[in-house]
Amino acid sequence: MPFSFQDFPAARDDLRADVLAGLVASPKAIPPKYFYDEAGCRLFEAICAQPEYALCRTEQALMAECLSDIAATVGAVDCIVEPGAGDCSKVRLLVDTLSPTRLVVMDIAGEPLAAAAQAVSRDYPDLDVAALAMDFLRDLEAAAPWLPAGRRLVYYPGSSIGNFAPDAASALLARFRHLAGADGRLLIGFDLKKDPQQLHAAYNDAAGVTAAFNLNLLARLNRELGADFDLGRFRHYAFYNPVAGRIEMHLVSLGEQDVHVAGQRFHFALGETLHTEHSYKFRRDEFSALAENAGWQLAGEWMRGGFAVQLYR
Ligand code: AVI
Repeated sequence: MPFSFQDFPAARDDLRADVLAGLVASPKAIPPKYFYDEAGCRLFEAICAQPEYALCRTEQALMAECLSDIAATVGAVDCIVEPGAGDCSKVRLLVDTLSPTRLVVMDIAGEPLAAAAQAVSRDYPDLDVAALAMDFLRDLEAAAPWLPAGRRLVYYPGSSIGNFAPDAASALLARFRHLAGADGRLLIGFDLKKDPQQLHAAYNDAAGVTAAFNLNLLARLNRELGADFDLGRFRHYAFYNPVAGRIEMHLVSLGEQDVHVAGQRFHFALGETLHTEHSYKFRRDEFSALAENAGWQLAGEWMRGGFAVQLYR
């Protein structure tokens, strides 16, 4: 069956513009999507293997355990669409079980996506696979020509939705409705609210992998934007904010310092933060209210060990 790869350079992220805009904002901030260069992807995999960070393992176990019930509730689908598919490892389980005729995977990192999608295509000779290299946050609509008629399931696992502020999460869920189409479905995984000490530990692992992941962002800016961040002068600082219901991740300046980025100078005061990520945690009813607000109707729900997967139509 055909395999196709389509690059959307116009819908790519603009690291330079986003970083320069983030460094003049107050507080200074950089969008979390820029964590995921090659080293960042490796570090994220290492985070998933840390004993304190159970999110990925819990979701994997939940999916394996509940798969036949999930499949029965989803029903027949012609196409699975996964925005942010990465190495395409999670969607394989659904392909095995739902046997769609087409798989559409999208990711900002074009080369690894193409390799992963091609491997899926080799392993499932009856599946028509389309890999779209794009920042789906910028131009999700560009995927339209690759979406077949028939029932489509949008799959968005991993609690990636938690990395968006509530307004942006709601807007993204509404855009997923267009991706899914009138008779479409959405299968989405998210991390549940739990003991704040457990959440705190998950983003402050003893081996320091999350700290390295956070600081790698500065290494990336040094390499790709000719910046001169001194990684030893910024501290990884992550904590659970129970009022906002989110983990906040920061890089805090350990002193007064000037940093140059893309030829421009930025001052950091002692204790000033560069905010790098929010990771929202939800109660099941909070999340369904968010999704329903975006026009989805809850059709199924599975929960295990502090993680939830919900199905919408
Ligand atoms: C990808 N995302 C759901 C992870 C999270 O937990 O918010 C990213 C991450 N950041 C620090 N650790 C993991």
